[in-house]
Amino acid sequence: MGGESYKVWGAALVAATVALAIGIGINHVTHTEHLETNAYKVDVLEGAVQTTAAPAAAVIEPIGPLLASADIAAGEKGFKRCATCHTFDKGGANKVGPNLFGVVGGAKGSASGFAYSDALKTMAGSWSYDELNAFLTKPKDFLAGTKMTFAGIRSAQDRANIIAFMRQHADTPFPLPTQ
Ligand code: HEC
Repeated sequence: MGGESYKVWGAALVAATVALAIGIGINHVTHTEHLETNAYKVDVLEGAVQTTAAPAAAVIEPIGPLLASADIAAGEKGFKRCATCHTFDKGGANKVGPNLFGVVGGAKGSASGFAYSDALKTMAGSWSYDELNAFLTKPKDFLAGTKMTFAGIRSAQDRANIIAFMRQHADTPFPLPTQ
């Protein structure tokens, strides 16, 4: 390329940059005006959406009352949905997910040799019934960044049955919650 074409390209580049700058400027002005005229409407809408949608999303039916009468045989069947990724027996292998022996009431993220997500690794303490209930309702809602790619279990009774089944697979089953 000769010196002339550099100049031509340079001029084109300057022109493009100026056009872009003007474009952004215009966009900015129209965007701001647009926002101003609509600000009130948007506020009203958001308020309306929040009052109707927020409670429905936040509510997780508690399983405390269901645990005492949970159906363990049904829980064993329900666990088949988990068994592609989890074993529950003592000393069982880690698969896609960690071995779950003793997980109910046990320390979070404690299956040896399993590479947990950072999200789970930084969680403290032991799995309570309430936390397991919330996690199994929608894993990603309870723990953003979890590696457990499982949609969740909608029915509280199903969750209670599965948790009651897992509870039995521990050296000392975790005491049931007092209601
Ligand atoms: C697609 C595979 C998959 C399925 C299906 C699955 N899980 Fe998981 N599960 C995982 C993975 C992966 C982790 C590790 C999560 C992390 O590190 O964030 C995990 C973690 C867990 C933990 C926490 C374990 C600990 O050591 O703290 C529990 C409890 C659990 N799963 C229960 C279940 C139950 C109950 C089901 C069935 C209803 C189920 N999972 C279905 C993959 C799965």
